[in-house]
Amino acid sequence: MINTVEFSKLSIQEMIKFIIKTYHEPLKKLLPEIKIQLEKIKHFPEKFHLENFWMIKELFEQFESELSTHILREENKFYAEIIKLEKKEKVDKKIIEEFLDLQKTEHSEIDSYLYSLKKLIFELSTNNVWNIKKWNSEEWTFEELKKIFHTLYLELSECIYIENTILNLEIEELFW
Ligand SMILES: [Fe+2]
Repeated sequence: MINTVEFSKLSIQEMIKFIIKTYHEPLKKLLPEIKIQLEKIKHFPEKFHLENFWMIKELFEQFESELSTHILREENKFYAEIIKLEKKEKVDKKIIEEFLDLQKTEHSEIDSYLYSLKKLIFELSTNNVWNIKKWNSEEWTFEELKKIFHTLYLELSECIYIENTILNLEIEELFW
């Protein structure tokens, strides 16, 4: 996705619209899907490391709450201020500066949640699922969970990259 967009041709407002439509909206749908798949794992105690399961569940709940708050704040407060700045309307630059700092911190926190969750999820199965010739429902559940989580991982990493580098560079240019 990222390679097909000419960001230099977009205004900041268009870039924000793109981020919300391409990343934020799908991410909001992926979070509950992962929760559903995670819940299913619990029903196959002999197939999975359940101690990992409980760690994943707890970590995922923290991650979900952090991410949802982060996205809401960006959409409702941060982006709204940035659009005003681009339109040369009166803004409190101190607030934008604080948002930029907070955003940086939260992005790196989200990154480390993603990394830990990915590691734990991939170690969840007690079997080497790749060696199983005929998959049963447990393996399918696990595969589905991995697939959805992997999509979340890719989408979110790309979103953070665009915000941290492309969007924030444009904002800083406007700002200073
Ligand atoms: Fe963000």
